[in-house]
Amino acid sequence: MACQPRGHLTALQIGSKDVAHIEEERAPVTVASINLENASTLEAGRQFPPDFLWGSATSSYQIEGAAEIDGRGESIWDRFCDVPGAIKDGSNGDVACDHYHRYPEDIALMRRLNLNAYRFSIAWPRILPNGTGQVNQLGLDFYDRLVDALLAAGIQPFPTLYHWDLPQVLEDKGGWPARATAEAFADYAEIVVARLGDRVTDWMTLNEPFVSAYLGHLTGEHAPGRRSLPDCLAASHHLLVGHALAMERVRAAAPGAKVGIVLNFTPVTPIGRSPAARDRQQLVDELNNHWYVDPIGGRGYPQYTVDRLAWARQEVRSGDMDLIARPIDTLGINFYTRQMVGALEGEREDRGAATAMDWEIHPSALGDLLRGLHDRHRFPRYLITENGAAMPDNVRVDGRVIDTDRLEYIAAHLGQVHQAMEDGVPIEGYFAWSLLDNFEWAYGYGPKFGLVAVDMETQHRTPKQSALWYAEVARTGEIRPAS
Ligand code: FCB
Repeated sequence: MACQPRGHLTALQIGSKDVAHIEEERAPVTVASINLENASTLEAGRQFPPDFLWGSATSSYQIEGAAEIDGRGESIWDRFCDVPGAIKDGSNGDVACDHYHRYPEDIALMRRLNLNAYRFSIAWPRILPNGTGQVNQLGLDFYDRLVDALLAAGIQPFPTLYHWDLPQVLEDKGGWPARATAEAFADYAEIVVARLGDRVTDWMTLNEPFVSAYLGHLTGEHAPGRRSLPDCLAASHHLLVGHALAMERVRAAAPGAKVGIVLNFTPVTPIGRSPAARDRQQLVDELNNHWYVDPIGGRGYPQYTVDRLAWARQEVRSGDMDLIARPIDTLGINFYTRQMVGALEGEREDRGAATAMDWEIHPSALGDLLRGLHDRHRFPRYLITENGAAMPDNVRVDGRVIDTDRLEYIAAHLGQVHQAMEDGVPIEGYFAWSLLDNFEWAYGYGPKFGLVAVDMETQHRTPKQSALWYAEVARTGEIRPAS
């Protein structure tokens, strides 16, 4: 199986996915059913503003397929999926949901679900098969068609420029631990925005740099599969530099566009107050929840962790921290779960129900996170760019997927978003992860996060109960009880 717990990394093995995965191997999965049964009833009647963005989110490698079509170059995920044991079910994104060919059908689905926004990512290896240099017009043409079709359907496009599929040639030249990758990213961003910026007004640079740096370079669970703390730290800095450089290029190429970054947050609930527990709590919290947002908010890297990891900051050039702190227009927030942290790896107490990923369901952590972020940073605008749940989806009635558990998960989190808005946090939209069941990275096609089921044999799409419910929420702007 992929992602074995690795003893030699224990001291630093602290990403939420990491912990979740280790536990999954030890314990049977518990599925949400207990404390969330009534969320949609409890939160019913909360009314969102008429211009609220109701969306769904996907990413290129997870849904597009067409790996070798129209001149697409190799990405680090193509290469990583070939490593024996890297992907739990031995699968890859070669075909995925075949969205590259089926995007008209998928847009029709979004329309049927009353969605007015769509977050997707652009595959760098489609645009620049060699990472830099020669532009592949056919790759740009695809996103051009996609954007036009979205706009024609009344759906606002929210592209993310990088959702983990680095061109393999750039990895071969050093990848994110090398500064040149940040510069190449800015050039790539400019090329994309030059083509789409006349129609796309909202841009995100990176998706979850924490996951790129940490799972890709320290634990090795994600592409490119490195296991080196110096590489992880260098990658983290260059990802932020890349974000900042790209943001400038986007602004130059599309004046008036809004630009931001998507970060993941996994709030920490402390267990125990021993010195060892406090040390891990601060380390885990800073790495997961502050390492990226604090520099962007002008507060620099969290000092405790810088010292604790003995990072000499040799990659940080003069001027970098000011560059990284240039104001963003939008902070995208990805939220799934909280994590309990004590002195020992994987420690837990009083844990609530969990999803099929074994991620605990704890909606109030989202509300607290949103208020806390806004109190600390006062960013002008927030979007919930991912929130959702993998569920077993094993209840079918007349061919329909009855996923009340996912519906209640979303209702509970929407309730938190609405409350945070009432408390003054300027949140303008919510994107459910995900539109479609898709390729869930190292887990392959096992976990099902979609509002819409995809039969991987036939590519047939079936909106689940949660999708039909969400469509009503999007249509009315109001949280409704499950029917
Ligand atoms: C996030 C990723 C997304 C998906 C969800 C479940 O970390 O951004 O691609 O894997 O988790």
